[in-house]
Amino acid sequence: MTDQVMPTYARLPVTFERGEGVWLWDTAGNRYFDAISGVAVCSLGHAHPAIAAAISRQAGQLLHTSNIYRIGLQQQLAAHLCRLSGLDNAFFCNSGAEANEAALKIARRYGHHRGIESPRVVVMDRSFHGRTLATLSASGNPRIQDGFEPLVQGFIRVPYNDLAAVAALDHPDIAAILVEPVQGEGGVRVPAGDYLAGLRRIADERGWLLMLDEVQTGMGRTGTWFAFQHAGILPDVMTLAKALANGVPIGACLARGVAGEMLSAGKHASTFGGNPLACSAALAVIDTLESEHWLERVAALGVRLLAGFKTRLAHHPAVVDIRGLGLMIGIELDTPCAGLVAEALARGYLINVTADTTVRLLPPFILNDQEETALLNDLSTLITEYTAR
Ligand SMILES: Cc1ncc(COP(=O)(O)O)c(C=O)c1O
Repeated sequence: MTDQVMPTYARLPVTFERGEGVWLWDTAGNRYFDAISGVAVCSLGHAHPAIAAAISRQAGQLLHTSNIYRIGLQQQLAAHLCRLSGLDNAFFCNSGAEANEAALKIARRYGHHRGIESPRVVVMDRSFHGRTLATLSASGNPRIQDGFEPLVQGFIRVPYNDLAAVAALDHPDIAAILVEPVQGEGGVRVPAGDYLAGLRRIADERGWLLMLDEVQTGMGRTGTWFAFQHAGILPDVMTLAKALANGVPIGACLARGVAGEMLSAGKHASTFGGNPLACSAALAVIDTLESEHWLERVAALGVRLLAGFKTRLAHHPAVVDIRGLGLMIGIELDTPCAGLVAEALARGYLINVTADTTVRLLPPFILNDQEETALLNDLSTLITEYTAR
């Protein structure tokens, strides 16, 4: 078959046709362990019965109306997300990049509201916020910006996990900080325990908004609903997407206080954002995570997997670091290791390599004890054999 899809992805030569739990089957009937959950999306695994039932029920009732009208399921979803996060309100869109666009628009409006003509947002080295023009400009990765100049203006970049660098900023035009609580694409970088609280303090002192990109870390991935809850703080703005509806496209930008007042009628919109189908899936995700107590399991499983990989790999000379939070796990090697992805695939595992040298694992929350042991043993063997060559 000729491929007329734009070549924006260096795709691996496999097509999946069916999934169940942590498993995927390709068109030839081979089975694979999905250790990245569609990159932090299918946290409850593939073809989850409660999510499938909610989607099919809603599809038979009402797929879409328009944000010109009230959408009851959207109001319910906003209420749940505000209850779980402590924020005040939510704007719904369709992806992580769009959620961050909404956050950046809030920051700009907030700046203008404070009399700043050209508001700026503090962003971090190695960050990733999406591929739209504003979000790739905010991202700290020159590779994704290359060829798309002129970039969107108004960002001030500092090193990640460096409170002193943020405290040293004395630019009068700063309106907000945008930061990932744990950097995902940047190499599974977990900042120091006092980092978010330190950013909160600086933001409060200077009147800046603290905006957290929880697109990858949110919805239980780190063992709490949102990663900021490990730090005991509240952001002014938080963005979500990925796991929010376990694979049905949806994004959300939540805000609090004055930040929640910035996008008034006519200031932002999305045709599909928060439509009944996507909201029904997200509500089923929240109900399942809550009623089946998955977050406790994520926290415990994350600790066990991290310890398990450390026991098996930490002594290995090619392993630089093993780190993570909850079920976001990074194994950093001393050389680029993109080749590991194809080797893992050949052994029936879907893994990811990010920031050139870090094997990133984002397993579904639902893996059982046997699957946990298989993941630990098989990937440790693979990494050991790969680095020995
Ligand atoms: C932290 C973070 N923000 C934003 C995005 C962009 O999300 P999307 O691909 O849904 O636009 C991603 C995607 O990987 C991400 O990890």
